[in-house]
Amino acid sequence: MQKSSRVSEAVIRRLPKYYRYLKDMQKSGVERISSKELSKKMGLTASQIRQDFNCFGGFGQQGYGYHVSELCDEIRKILGLDKEYNVIIAGAGNLGQALANYVGFEKEGFNIRAMFDVNPRLVGLSIRGVQILDIDSMGDYIVNNEIQVGIVCVPKAKAQEVTDEMVKRGIKSIWNFAPVDVEIPENVAVENVHLSDTLYTLSYKMNED
Ligand code: NAI
Repeated sequence: MQKSSRVSEAVIRRLPKYYRYLKDMQKSGVERISSKELSKKMGLTASQIRQDFNCFGGFGQQGYGYHVSELCDEIRKILGLDKEYNVIIAGAGNLGQALANYVGFEKEGFNIRAMFDVNPRLVGLSIRGVQILDIDSMGDYIVNNEIQVGIVCVPKAKAQEVTDEMVKRGIKSIWNFAPVDVEIPENVAVENVHLSDTLYTLSYKMNED
């Protein structure tokens, strides 16, 4: 299986969903699944699924379908979830603490090493063993601890400044929860997570005639 350099954004966006479904099936002991069954479960057409998997050299065999564990492992590798990452969180307020409290990220290799905040009442505390440190020490911490991923949970007005510091110190991946699309250089990956966008979409659907 080869990663093609021209995999479209749309395919990349579907991979986590494939992974989620396959992981659940693997956990429930499902050994194999036909492309028809998988497509029904996922609300995609069988041909769409085949096309998506063809971007990576294709999995599955005619007449057999997909071997769930193998496919799940392949997608895990494609997503880079077979590795370990060092992660920090900037902003140890409600959201930052909630993320630090969640055990699911480390199960997939995202190890939260420290949190950073400006509030002296938070500095020195620990959340599930993760220390909250002064934001002024973030830059050196990134360099000294080979941090690859920065999670931004500061207020909107501070998000760009915090992101810039992360990038300046060598972080190559930003997961931003502040309600602003932060700007980053081309060689840095960013995912802006705007939770309220989905809430507003829900609101639209609720109010559709
Ligand atoms: P919060 O006010 O509880 O926490 C923000 C934290 O950032 C505070 O502890 C504050 O001291 C710290 N901070 C402020 N300036 C800083 C700086 N320059 N460097 C480091 N830390 C700094 O806010 P909350 O609820 O945790 O939200 C954080 C961000 O996530 C906000 O941008 C918010 O809009 C966004 N968000 C929050 C959601 C939520 O469910 N709580 C949902 C969606 C987005």
